[in-house]
Amino acid sequence: MAEGVSEPLRLLPESVDTVPAPIHNTTSPSPVWPDDEVFAHALHHGTGLDLLHHNGHRVPLAVHRWLAAPDRADESLLQRCSGRTLDIGCGPGRFSIALAQRGIFCLGIDVTSKAVELARSNGANVLCASVFDPLPTEGEWDTVLLADGNLGIAGDPDRLLARAHHLLRAGGRLLVEAAVSDVDEVVPVQLSNGSGNSRVFHWAHVGAEAAVQRARAVGFSHTETWRSLGRVFVSFDR
Ligand SMILES: C[S@@+](CC[C@H](N)C(=O)[O-])C[C@H]1O[C@@H](n2cnc3c(N)ncnc32)[C@H](O)[C@@H]1O
Repeated sequence: MAEGVSEPLRLLPESVDTVPAPIHNTTSPSPVWPDDEVFAHALHHGTGLDLLHHNGHRVPLAVHRWLAAPDRADESLLQRCSGRTLDIGCGPGRFSIALAQRGIFCLGIDVTSKAVELARSNGANVLCASVFDPLPTEGEWDTVLLADGNLGIAGDPDRLLARAHHLLRAGGRLLVEAAVSDVDEVVPVQLSNGSGNSRVFHWAHVGAEAAVQRARAVGFSHTETWRSLGRVFVSFDR
C-alpha cells in the first residue's frame, strides 16, 4: 500500500462499531491498564480485542499487529530510533526485538505480566514496570518510544509527556504515534474480547495537533509529523 493511503486503524473514532454494549461499573475507573485474563487471552491466542467505550462503541485493537513483525509504518518509527531506546508499553516487544536486531540497545517496559512474558520469550530485553515507576538511567535515554496509541497510557497525556521529558537526556528524541483524527480526549474504557470485559480504566486519544501543543507545554520542541499506511507519527526533541 502506498504511503498516505488509509487502512483501518485501531483507536480511531471512524473505525468504531456502533452496536451499543454499555460499560458497567464506570464509577471509579483506574488509570492502570488491566493485567487480567481478557488481555492475557488475546495476547496468548492472537484473538480479537476491542476497546469498549462507555457509550458502547467498540474500537478493534491491533493485537495481530503487536504479535507480528514490524510493517512499513512501524519501520518509519524504527528508522528514527537512535542510541539507547526506551520502548514504553512495549507489549509483546516487536519494536524492542527489531531494534536489538539492528544493534540498537532497547529496553521495553510493560505493566502487564503476559506482555512481558511473551516479549521475554521472543528474546526482548523487558522490565515489568509502569512508566511511572522508578526506571533505570532516568534522564539518560536517547530515544523514548510511545508506539501504537501509547500516548493514551494512564489517561493523562500531560503527566506521560512530562515523564518522557524527565526520562530523556537533553537533546534526546521522543517518538509518538498519535490518533489519526483531530481528537483530544480522556475516556473510561474496558478491554473486551467477546466473552468478557476487563475492569474500567482511563485511556486518552490524542491527535497530532493536540500532541504537539501538549508536548510543547512540558518543554519539547516539535521536529516532524509524518504519516505512513494511514497512521500518524510525531517526533520531538527534548
Ligand atoms: C496499545 S498496546 C501497545 C503495544 C506495543 N507498543 C506495540 O505497538 O506492539 C499498549 C501496551 O501498553 C501497556 N501499558 C499500559 N499502561 C502502561 C504503563 N503505565 N506503563 C507501561 N506499560 C503500560 C499495556 O500493558 C499494553 O501492553
